Amino acid sequence: MLLLGTQRINELGHLEVGGCDTVDLAQKFGTPLYVLDEADFRGKMRAYRTAFEQRYPRNEIAYASKALLCMAVARLVVEEGFHMDVASAGELYTAVKSGFPGDRLVLHGNNKSQLEVSMALEMGVGRVVVDNLNELNMLEAEAAAKGTVAPILLRVTPGIDPHTHKFISTGQEDTKFGLNITTGAAMEGIKKALEFEHIKLIGVHCHVGSQLLDTEAHEGAINRMIGFMDDVRTQTGVVLDELNIGGGLGIRYLEEHNPPSIEDYAEVICNTLKAALDSHNFPYPKLLQEPGRSIIGEAGLTLYTIGAIKEVPIAEEPGIKVYATTNGGLSDNPRPQLYDAVYTPLLANRMNEPYDQQVTIAGKHCETDTLINNTLLPKPNTGDILAVLSTGAYNFAMASNYNRFRRPAMVLVNEGHADIIVERQNLDDLLWQDRIPERLKPNYE
Ligand code: LLP
Repeated sequence: MLLLGTQRINELGHLEVGGCDTVDLAQKFGTPLYVLDEADFRGKMRAYRTAFEQRYPRNEIAYASKALLCMAVARLVVEEGFHMDVASAGELYTAVKSGFPGDRLVLHGNNKSQLEVSMALEMGVGRVVVDNLNELNMLEAEAAAKGTVAPILLRVTPGIDPHTHKFISTGQEDTKFGLNITTGAAMEGIKKALEFEHIKLIGVHCHVGSQLLDTEAHEGAINRMIGFMDDVRTQTGVVLDELNIGGGLGIRYLEEHNPPSIEDYAEVICNTLKAALDSHNFPYPKLLQEPGRSIIGEAGLTLYTIGAIKEVPIAEEPGIKVYATTNGGLSDNPRPQLYDAVYTPLLANRMNEPYDQQVTIAGKHCETDTLINNTLLPKPNTGDILAVLSTGAYNFAMASNYNRFRRPAMVLVNEGHADIIVERQNLDDLLWQDRIPERLKPNYE
């Protein structure tokens, strides 16, 4: 059975996380409920830090907030001494409002708005990762107008195709992200950045993809990037001092998933990097990273209540299929529909019973929002509490109000305490931005 972080089975045969009985959490806070395991989240940040400090001391790690951001999460990231990557005005605003130091923020985005660039300069973000020449021009103008200098990394496309879902591959040649090394666009961007008075080019950035279960793509990208930094030195005389390799390390969604541990990942990354630098006789730059999923993914789980259960005939073969319906689905976790994502379910209130029944977990939206296809569970009953593991990354962050569902609450659990960190939306939350023009107002007379 897959149990992650502080998850365990307690004396009542219930799933426990952060010292809290998940059946109690469901009762107290309602379902669907996102539950975040503080010790696991902090533990992953510490594991990253230790693994890289031991092997490549000149390094800095930013948490990629797109995976999951709310103010309490930002506070945990600050407390762990991490930097943070933000990719929109909203992420930047959340970070700053939660007291995140501006100089520890990295601003991303492949089509940044003037507002985003201007906010970033006002908040003194540590690095702007520039994606394209339009943005370079905009940033120069904004920085000049504000009488400041913008510290930047240039996002470069290394031309590495990672083996992951096509929607989360970003390092290949055919991509909207960054400037291509092969076509010469990246070198052109470097030269342009060096000409500008209000831009300080510090280094280069790449990100090859997400949920990578081996290190092959990262190794390829590092070699390509160091080769490029060497070419920059040859062509411009400038020795770039920072290399950001993005994020991308995968996590366990199923028991059989076997991503490299953070320690093993660090070993390969640092060895590859040092070997590439030595072979180019290049001075060691600062290594920057921005993992998201591998820090927070396994720390999250979602609790649902099982409602309707149906047995339907299977087309073209004898037998029946059992559907167990949850009280959430596509709106709190769109990943199965978007990326064919797979998940592990646990029956939180009956953990010790045999997992011997084929069940398909369905959502409650007005379409076929299968959450988990053909999985093994104890025979489910209406009212059971279902836990879906590894939902910390890109679930809450990608949640919607589809079918006017209210977005679930999130609790942070640790050592037997559960604190609400995001309130459940109420029905009026769904209405407060709606306006009825005068001529359409109901006439109750
Ligand atoms: N840096 C950059 C520039 C990125 O684009 C990303 C993710 C990261 C860092 C963090 O990657 P991670 O360590 O989390 O793999 N919604 C998709 C994932 C999209 C990832 C986008 N970029 C999903 O649900 O799988």
